[in-house]
Amino acid sequence: MNEAKTAMPTADAVSAYLKQHEEKDLLRLLTCGSVDDGKSTLIGRLLYDCHLIYEDQLAAVMKDSRIHGTTGDDFDPALLTDGLKAEREQGITIDVAYRYFSTAKRKFIVADCPGHEQYTRNMATGASHCSLAIILIDARNGVITQTCRHSFICSLLGIKHAAVAVNKMDLVGWDEAVFSRIVRDYKAMAARLGFADIHFIPVSALKGDNVVHPSEHMPWYDDATLLHHLERVNVTAADNLIDMRYPVQHVIRPDLNFRGYAGTVASGVLRAGMPVMALPSRKTSRIASIAGPGGPTDEAPAGLATVVTLTDEIDVSRGDMLAPADNLPHVEHEFEAMLVWMHETPAEVGSSYQLKHAACALPAVLTDIRYRVDVNTMRKLDPAGSPDGATEQGALRLNDIARCHITLHRPIAFDSYQRNRQTGAFVLIDRVTHATVAAGMILDRIVADSKKAPVSSHIRRSRSLVTAADRQALLGQKPCTVWLTGLSGSGKSTIARALEKGLIEQGRFCVALDGDNVRHGLNRDLGFSASDRSENIRRVAEVARLFNEAGAIVVAAFISPYRKDRQSAREIVAGSGDEPGAGSFLEVWLRTSLDVCRQRDPKGLYAKASSGAIAAFTGMTDPYEEPAQAELALDTAAMPVEACVAAIMEALREKSFLPSVENRSPR
Ligand code: ADX
Repeated sequence: MNEAKTAMPTADAVSAYLKQHEEKDLLRLLTCGSVDDGKSTLIGRLLYDCHLIYEDQLAAVMKDSRIHGTTGDDFDPALLTDGLKAEREQGITIDVAYRYFSTAKRKFIVADCPGHEQYTRNMATGASHCSLAIILIDARNGVITQTCRHSFICSLLGIKHAAVAVNKMDLVGWDEAVFSRIVRDYKAMAARLGFADIHFIPVSALKGDNVVHPSEHMPWYDDATLLHHLERVNVTAADNLIDMRYPVQHVIRPDLNFRGYAGTVASGVLRAGMPVMALPSRKTSRIASIAGPGGPTDEAPAGLATVVTLTDEIDVSRGDMLAPADNLPHVEHEFEAMLVWMHETPAEVGSSYQLKHAACALPAVLTDIRYRVDVNTMRKLDPAGSPDGATEQGALRLNDIARCHITLHRPIAFDSYQRNRQTGAFVLIDRVTHATVAAGMILDRIVADSKKAPVSSHIRRSRSLVTAADRQALLGQKPCTVWLTGLSGSGKSTIARALEKGLIEQGRFCVALDGDNVRHGLNRDLGFSASDRSENIRRVAEVARLFNEAGAIVVAAFISPYRKDRQSAREIVAGSGDEPGAGSFLEVWLRTSLDVCRQRDPKGLYAKASSGAIAAFTGMTDPYEEPAQAELALDTAAMPVEACVAAIMEALREKSFLPSVENRSPR
């Protein structure tokens, strides 16, 4: 009786089991290596030792092992996975094959792609959806060119987690010294890549050591087996869960009473009532309703196909993107990207393609190839030169990877690939044959170089009939920019306002520029990525220069966390080399400690950053590079506002920017 009871699971137990299976998280992983490294053997071993092979499959493989196997009459796990016939016969893996398996803890999708250099494009395809890569190294060969290439492509495609399986440990006598050397070599090579974590495991895929079961041959290794590591590794999702992006695939307008927008949430969470902006038009509205596959809903996560309606009748077309008004993507008609060239026909600078990005397709021109990357060494190559020394002016060949500049027919909304794989990826399509010729990963926005020539050679400067000396005589002051830099909450705005008021009261022509204010207007399109902050500072410095040209004293209050951006601001305002400046630059560092700024937290932003609500907050999750040569450093924890203002005034007087007011020459 009892036995029968335990043997027959109840309906509840079955539902509980199925629910648990449904809720298990999914890890998408990629295996990199070649047949020679034992890649197929490793996957076969994983499946076999997890008891995921059916009896008849196993029987067929045992039979095949004798014909195709490399293990004599023994079972060859590689034959479980080398499913493609051509691959079996030639002994190479030719395409990306996806395998699904699950254990009690997790579900897995394994993208298995070929390892040879001529299959770089296949590897890039396989890697684009994965969170983790198993990098296979043959213990006898150690870290080789191919390891470097695979690791580079994985990191380029945004994979943050690497599990390095050092295979064939049986063939090196299970030697710990061999393993340690490979770990050291790999770490040295990978230091230049963007992996967040790398785990090393010595294995023998053929014998089964440390794949699923711990090895008896390597007592010196007491960490997780490969499977155990895959089950427990804490992978940050490859999907962006923060920035809501909704590319509109289709406008649904059955009659005059309904206007809905169909699409799939690309990232983040779409919520009813959310204020959104349609891009590129910048028209704002709110989400009125969301219909998912199961009917109306208040929330739709990334990946869900939905139809949304808006509270206002704004013009939204197919290919547009909806995004929260306070968290916008870039909207530009050009960007830089890493391209993987996937076609036999080479790419030429100046060629036009159809670009497919999110839900839009539009003409795009490959305007520049900045450099190509030698995938084996990760070194930059001159775009004109190839590794073998041949010159192919401005061309990209099959499997080349290059940093390129793309110009679009009209602006589109996008994020950088590193931030958002969905809205940062695109493909280029040949406009005649419709073949996909390249896959691209968008880098951050193109920061305009302040020293670069204008876009057109037909633009000429006009010269003012009024000299700087005329203005100085009129205003009785020398123009300068007081640049206040420091953490959020260090007192920049407060001191800037007090200084501005103090100068005006003295009869000086003065204007304050403030970070938050400028970001409401001129820079409302900029966020807080390193490149957006650079662009913010560049534009502000150009504005400060214009005010200095007009004779004004400028007080600029910006976090400006990067030293190089402050240096550029200095050069824009004060000039450099042959470039004359418009005013002097006085860098004032409010060196108030992070602890004090956090305690003050005047806008509640540190609290938000601590709870994760603000992603890249200066001083917390984003850097602040302290000035090395500020003209003045003031600790606002020790000095009241008036004392700081007095100190800056004193510095201005000392540098004779504030000659006595009586010296003015009225006209
Ligand atoms: S900067 O880094 O580009 O120089 P800026 O001075 O213009 O920044 O703007 C900083 C202001 O934006 C801060 O005073 C704060 O109110 C707000 N802010 C919002 N998000 C962030 C963030 N992630 N990091 C820093 N400041 C932020």
